[in-house]
Amino acid sequence: MTKPRVIESISEMQELSRSLKREGKKIAFVPTMGYLHQGHLSLVEKARQLGDVVVVSIFVNPTQFGPSEDFDRYPRDLEGDLKKLEPYRVEYVFYPSAREMYPEGYQTYVEVERLSRGLCGDFRPGHFRGVCTVVCKLFNIVQPDFAIFGEKDYQQLRVIEQMTRDLNFPVQIIGMPTIREEDGLAMSSRNAYLSEGERKQALSLSRALFSCQELVKKGEKDSEMLKEKAREIISQNPDARIEYIEIRDAYTLEPLEKIDRPAQMLLAVWVGNTRLIDNIRLNPDYQGG
Ligand code: PAJ
Repeated sequence: MTKPRVIESISEMQELSRSLKREGKKIAFVPTMGYLHQGHLSLVEKARQLGDVVVVSIFVNPTQFGPSEDFDRYPRDLEGDLKKLEPYRVEYVFYPSAREMYPEGYQTYVEVERLSRGLCGDFRPGHFRGVCTVVCKLFNIVQPDFAIFGEKDYQQLRVIEQMTRDLNFPVQIIGMPTIREEDGLAMSSRNAYLSEGERKQALSLSRALFSCQELVKKGEKDSEMLKEKAREIISQNPDARIEYIEIRDAYTLEPLEKIDRPAQMLLAVWVGNTRLIDNIRLNPDYQGG
């Protein structure tokens, strides 16, 4: 068990990374907003396998939250997070302040155009611009060889892959499967907001996705029918309000009418005052043809 060293300064992190690379060390990086759970830790474990040195960032990024979103109440627990990281022998936690990342006069933003539209992009204007901007800055600060992201935030993963390609970052992006609670609920820092009753209703998201995956396995190919099925399962819950349920090409995120190529079902649902997202590959065994 080794406690990670906490670095708050950009120049110190950058200098450290530079000297690690001079020594020929490979840096594996996991960006997070903290309040870590098993989903985050699965990424850290992967980073541990890939890198000689592991850097985890903990930064609740103000630019990716809308004005009426949960930036202020987003859960934070640095001490708890550092404890959870100990078994993974993480060398560094980069933990900058908002002022350090966005000093007075800050005015540069990064935008991935097409992939950031639709799905969460339509309901959280500016969200992916904030995500891309901070990830771009973090890449320049940490200078990782590998960066690990979760498929839980599926559109985010695709957007980051595109940005990395388009801007020629010498970083290999690794996507990792969604980690779920035993009953199927996708792990999320925001699950902490749910009351006991809401927690039960939140289960309908993963149940809807797994039911649709099952229908596809049995031969269903019609997207409308599948979306209707998911809608039916989720709307049985009095406190659930569907924001979107979509079926998309798993790579381009273009809408799909027929399940005739790798297809991802993605949804966003409010349960009470908590916005939850989840997604699944409908045809994991798809072989083409
Ligand atoms: P955050 O929500 O803290 O998530 C950090 C990383 O953990 C993301 O790559 C996310 O996809 C992954 N993750 C979250 N829940 C997961 C789960 N149940 N299973 C597997 N992976 C999971 O995503 C962000 O922070 C921010 O947008 C960030 C990329 C750090 C930029 O600010």
